[in-house]
Amino acid sequence: MTIKAFVIGHPINHSRSPLIHRTWLAEHGIDGSYEPIDVPPDALPAFFDRLRSGEFAGGNVTIPHKQAVFALCDEVDPLARTIGAVNTLVVRDGKVLGSNTDYLGFLGNLDAGAPQWERSAQPTIVLGAGGAARAILVALQNRQIPVHLLNRTLATAESLAADIGGAITPGALSDFNALAPAAGLVVNTTSIGLHGTRFEGFDLGRLPDNALVTDIVYVPLLTPLLADAKARGLRTVDGLGMLLHQAVLGFAAWFGVTPQVTPALRRVVEASL
Ligand code: ATR
Repeated sequence: MTIKAFVIGHPINHSRSPLIHRTWLAEHGIDGSYEPIDVPPDALPAFFDRLRSGEFAGGNVTIPHKQAVFALCDEVDPLARTIGAVNTLVVRDGKVLGSNTDYLGFLGNLDAGAPQWERSAQPTIVLGAGGAARAILVALQNRQIPVHLLNRTLATAESLAADIGGAITPGALSDFNALAPAAGLVVNTTSIGLHGTRFEGFDLGRLPDNALVTDIVYVPLLTPLLADAKARGLRTVDGLGMLLHQAVLGFAAWFGVTPQVTPALRRVVEASL
């Protein structure tokens, strides 16, 4: 019997997840499918009823549903609770279980792209305090890395830092240049790179020579921040790897095989951007 999985979002046609999972299905010769399904917010409860019928083994959740599905899941794992968002669903015995693999996607991407990155990542500057920052803050915290959380709206950084707890110091984007000389890692979680815009007044030249700069945006692959970092001779890791690595655990749960993030997979997805 064909094992079925999905990605839900609204809209959904931009998602690269079908390409990733279908590439792995073909590679492993698995009788499975992975389909994008456009689910508007008001149709989510009915979709969850459909899930409980057992039609699908599970699937992914993308924008704008990562928070809304929280309340519809029968169980949410502790990590996803801390992050406050669900991106992966597994259906088991008529129950929908929610988890968050963005956390592991972020760590997997850095582990693969910059081995031993943690050694020089203390402290880390995280730019942006929206939904995408949450999984990254929890991931950095689990590796005991203190964070300066800088955001355009200081109050948002303050409330997110208080919500996550631990060694997260909120600040304004204008604090960047003063904090840069001590920072080993800079993570951009804002959508600013999507629009080709730069952070005003940032002097990347103040970062240590061995600093690492990463961006979660992968369209374009070379965001203005990464381009500027490269021009300074700094190490960079782009955001595409996070997308590829977050997909591993879902595939393993639905299809029973742990897939690899290979250069060939990366090339296939890169060609679709
Ligand atoms: P979410 O990730 O929850 O969908 P968002 O509205 O997309 O939220 O914003 C994500 C982050 O990008 C926020 O930290 C936002 O800063 P504010 O809290 O001040 O809105 C940041 N952001 C978006 N556009 C930005 C810009 N042009 N300059 C600086 N930060 C920006």
